[in-house]
Amino acid sequence: MYDVIIRDGTIVRSSGRLVADIGIEDGKIAYVGGNPAGSAKEEISAIGRFVMPGVIDTHVHFRDPGNPDKESWATGSVEALRGGVTTVFDMPNTNPPTIDRATVDAKLAKAAANSVVNYGIWAGATAESIPQINDLWDSGVICGTKVFMGDSTGALAVTPEVLEGVFSKTKGLIGVHAEDQPALDAAHKKWAGHPNPVHNDVRPPEAVVLAVEKLIELVKQTGREVHICHLSTAGELAALDAYRGDLPITCEVTPHHLFLSTDNAGELGNLIKVNPPVRTELDRRAVMAALKRGRLDTFGSHHAPHTMEEKMQDYWQAPSGLPGVGTMLPLVLGALKNGRIGLELMVSMLSENPARIFGLYGKGCIEEGADADLVLFREGVTTRLTQEMVKCHCGWSPFVGREVGVPPDIVMVNGHIAARNGVIGNDLPLGKQVRFTGR
Ligand code: DOR
Ligand code: ZN
Repeated sequence: MYDVIIRDGTIVRSSGRLVADIGIEDGKIAYVGGNPAGSAKEEISAIGRFVMPGVIDTHVHFRDPGNPDKESWATGSVEALRGGVTTVFDMPNTNPPTIDRATVDAKLAKAAANSVVNYGIWAGATAESIPQINDLWDSGVICGTKVFMGDSTGALAVTPEVLEGVFSKTKGLIGVHAEDQPALDAAHKKWAGHPNPVHNDVRPPEAVVLAVEKLIELVKQTGREVHICHLSTAGELAALDAYRGDLPITCEVTPHHLFLSTDNAGELGNLIKVNPPVRTELDRRAVMAALKRGRLDTFGSHHAPHTMEEKMQDYWQAPSGLPGVGTMLPLVLGALKNGRIGLELMVSMLSENPARIFGLYGKGCIEEGADADLVLFREGVTTRLTQEMVKCHCGWSPFVGREVGVPPDIVMVNGHIAARNGVIGNDLPLGKQVRFTGR
């Protein structure tokens, strides 16, 4: 007997669509096809609904350990669920930073005890962490090494030596926040006396382009796999274009770089202060065009909440970062309705590609044996995000007023129905640590 049968849903894969029934048993997909034999404890009719594998957000900055009042694994993972995200990877710039066996184990213990979605964590690249990364990678406890080229929140900015060391001495996937520190320093100096500059001038596009050019050189020399986080400019796209498919470089894009610009959201001031910055409309359109042409590989929310109080300080005091793990899928569904992205591309970027790039076991697909992380949703039904709809822990979103998809009908994590129509279930089971293939 199945735990759940989802009947007549349209399963979306990058390769096409298929109307089928899905049988779920013990947290796994046990059957995909027509009319499964046997019964189920619960049957769900998915006629007129699409079914995709759960969204995998490989870029969140929960604040636990360090600042759980701001965002804990409990609050962040519930917000993830609201947006159809069933797996998150947390970034290492927490306090203490996640840079060795002890801090990795401590963060994993927090996640294990509190996260209602599946989880993985990144290790941060520092002089101290480099000798430990291979062991962490081989033992399957990290999803990759995160390199902060350029300072941002936290103290993980790499020196040129650490950057070289990551490429020459470690193994595994390298995720990069790519901003060139000397370029950031020069622009910072120029604007330092200004009371209220535009963040995109203080951390200008040249900084990301220089960093990406440096990365391309390092990948050419070493053949290492690099995932560029939050690509935000036409310049980066131009630098990468010639190598797409030839070098093992993949790219993430965030909703804020796709939907917000200094032109269309400048009045939000520090609420859109984020590193790398929200760019001009020209850059935003270039990134949107690249998305349509299939040049970007994954969506990441870069969920990095700060309180409204902190954001209301003056420009130089206000921290960088904005919430987004719960609004990513709704915003992409809004773009889907407006023809800016197709269903198949959406599913590949939200789920299939992250599973493939990170080598996730049992994720990113709807087939027998896979984990039953599923999202049932409607296409073409949208609404405007209102302040009342914003439920994230920090209580604000830069996307209020934007067109978003209505909440998914169902979000299932490990075979358990965790949310229905945006309403989160009670007494949710805890998520599981992700596993990797081929290590
Ligand atoms: O704006 C940002 N905020 N960029 C980062 O790289 C880190 C993040 C945070 O943790 O607040
Ligand atoms: Zn980040």
